[in-house]
Parts: sequence; structure tokens; C-alpha cells
Amino acid sequence: MDRIARVWGHYALNSRGHPTLRVVVETESGAKGYGLAPSGASTGTREAVEKRDGGERWLGRGVSTVLALLESEVAPRLVGMRPDRQREVDSLLVALDGTPNKSRLGANLTTATSIAVARAGAASVGVELFKHLGGAKSKLVPTPLLNIINGGVHAGNDLSIQEFLIIPVGADSILEALRISVEVYWSLRAILKDKYGPQAVNVGDEGGFAPPLRATREALDLLVEAVRTAGYSPGSDVLLGLDAAASQFYDEKERVYSVDGKNLTAEELLEYYESLVDEYPIVYIEDPFWEDDWEMFSMITKRLGDRVLIVGDDLYTTNVRYLRKGIDNRATNAALVKVNQIGTVSETIDFVWEAHWHGMRAIVSHRSGDTEDPFIADLSVALETGLIKTGAPARGERTSKYNRLIEIWEILDSPKYAASSPFSRRTVG
Ligand code: PGA
Ligand code: ZN
Repeated sequence: MDRIARVWGHYALNSRGHPTLRVVVETESGAKGYGLAPSGASTGTREAVEKRDGGERWLGRGVSTVLALLESEVAPRLVGMRPDRQREVDSLLVALDGTPNKSRLGANLTTATSIAVARAGAASVGVELFKHLGGAKSKLVPTPLLNIINGGVHAGNDLSIQEFLIIPVGADSILEALRISVEVYWSLRAILKDKYGPQAVNVGDEGGFAPPLRATREALDLLVEAVRTAGYSPGSDVLLGLDAAASQFYDEKERVYSVDGKNLTAEELLEYYESLVDEYPIVYIEDPFWEDDWEMFSMITKRLGDRVLIVGDDLYTTNVRYLRKGIDNRATNAALVKVNQIGTVSETIDFVWEAHWHGMRAIVSHRSGDTEDPFIADLSVALETGLIKTGAPARGERTSKYNRLIEIWEILDSPKYAASSPFSRRTVG
């Protein structure tokens, strides 16, 4: 029976050039696992707390405090535990932290540690990570949602909507899906360059282009044109999605949403989404309203939920407590899943199970400040979510996930690509 023998951590950099931490777990048998914590920019207020040093070094974002906590408090307790008992390890992390939002140890510390233990556990028993995470029978490789136009706080342009996603459903393998996506990405690049000049092809935080656009429809028209130019059919080969991240453009004092240069009431915004869904092949809208507007979430799910996945990200922050509120209110029919929003792998798995149990879709997601750690690729296959959101098909921290999905496809006996199945007619959450 293998045991954890050593746990240590060190500084690493994320895709924004901010520091993060990398935790390594080694077992008595010599099995090793690592984990890196990602980092959000448009974070929800209910998220588990990322702990940073403050002060001037690293612009206040150093992780020396959490590395010290790892060494003094966490590592000594993990030594001697079984690396394949993820739940025991994660329960210990939750108990050691002792707060509702991981603010004492830091969710960056618990996330990196929890992922490192999962990898060490898989290595220790000699199975692939996705199988170790509870997916021994899973053959479902998720359909990616690729953010190829970046706006909101992820880009230096005037687009209010944060993410414009393409969803390659007209494929029968992950590689074909990525081929389609890459062809659309490059056709969009050519169109942008042609229409707006070479500066329009600079990219935002998630590897999508950040052209100088102002209007949501302008971006959607460009996506449709890019899909067509690449030789595919919008609505059948490639579907579209939006992450509004509406908390970022909501004015709490004035109670208005500032979209495309106009101030809209919540009701007007709902009308606006409905018109977009009528005009474009949109099947996915994430965070359409700010994170406390439960009523409007319920309204849009009632209105559009039979043809669109209405997704809670900032609304739930991967926390079962808020998910249950969403289930009671029929607030959404889908939920975004980010390990570092809650801080451990086991709590993340519980969240996905709870969503699935209530007929909600779960979408495993990266963060805008991510790393080369492909953990979420394994997680999405293990939990059979059928959907993953991990940026453009470009930039190493994004492609590491896609490349791992291709590798998993090769490892699996008879893999199945989720394609359009997650979007088949929905009932309300
Ligand atoms: P974040 O954005 O990682 O900056 O929070 C991603 C998202 O909103 O889905
Ligand atoms: Zn989001």
C-alpha cells in the first residue's frame, strides 16, 4: 500500500505572467504528481479566495505566504496518507483551512495540492488520470467551446460580451473538431486583417482575437462569416455561444446593464438575448445576468432554456450550495465548473454529480489566467460532461488541454466524440 512520502511546492508563472504555485507530491514507491493553480480575471464574488502576499514584490501577487503554509501546515499532515484516497486528502484540506471560502490556506494552495495528489494517486496505482478520477468506463470526449473573439475584461477593446465561442459539433472525433476550429480560427484571422488591419489580429487573454469592435452583432457576424469562409455551415457544423460575464457590465447603483454603448434594463437585456438567439445559431449563453439576479436567470431559462444552454458561472462558482439554490429556482439548465472556484478536486466532482443528478449540463472550464497543466481535460472525460471550455485553439496554456484530449482519444479503446449531443433539446433545469 503506497503512501505519500513528500510534498513540496515552488513558484511558477501563469499565462498572464503572474506568479502561481506548483505543488509536487511524491509517494513512497516513487510515484509523482504535480498540480498548478490557474487564476481568473472576471471572478465571481462567491468564489473561493486566492491568497496572495500583497506588498510590492510581484505586484502584490507573490505566493510565498501560501508556500510557507504548504510547508508548515499541509505537507506534514499529508505525509503518510494514501495518494489514491482523494476524498480523504480533500477533506483534510477543507478541515485544515477551516473557512467557508478557503481564505485561510488559499484556494490556490488547496487547488494545486489537490490536483497534485490526484496525479500522484493515478501514478501510484498505474492508471491514466482520467480513469483514476472515477472515469474507468468513460469513453466520452467532450465537445469544446472555443473562445475565438475576446472582449470584456479579457481584451483591450470595447466589446461588452466577454467571450464569443464556436462549437464544432459537425465532427466525429476530437481531432476533426479541432481541425474545423483551427480552420475557422484562421479564416477569422484573415477576415479581421482584411477588414480592420493587422492590429485586429492581436489576441486576448484566452487566445481569441481582440479586434477593435464595439457591437455584439458585429462579432457574431464575423464568426458566421468565418465559419462559412472555412467551408462549414453555421448552425449544423458549427454552433455559437456567448459568455456575457454580465457582472462585469452591470451597474449595481443604476441597475442597468451597459451593453454595446447602451444602458439596458434586465428585461431589455433579456429581449436582446432573445433576438440574438433568433438571428444566430446560438445554443449557449453563460452568465447572461449579474451574479445576484436569480430572478432574471430563471426568466431567461424559462424563455430560452428549451433551445439554449443557460449557464451559471459567477452565479454558482462551482459551489454545491449555490447550485442547489439554482436548482430550486430553475435558474439555469447548465453550470460551469472550475476547480479553483471551490478549491478541491472532490468538491468539484460533487458539484458535477449534483448538477447531473438534477438534469443540468456541466461544462468543465479553464481560467483566463491558466497554465500548461492539462488537468481539466482529464476531468472532463472522467466526469463525462460532454463539454469543455478552454479557449482558442492557440497559446500553450489552451492547447495543452486540447492536446491532452487528443492523447486521451488515442488511449481510449473506442472513444466517442460528444458532438451535438449536449445541445439536444433541453428541459428546464
Ligand atoms: P475568468 O473568466 O477565468 O477570468 O473568471 C472565465 C469565465 O468567465 O468563464
Ligand atoms: Zn464565465
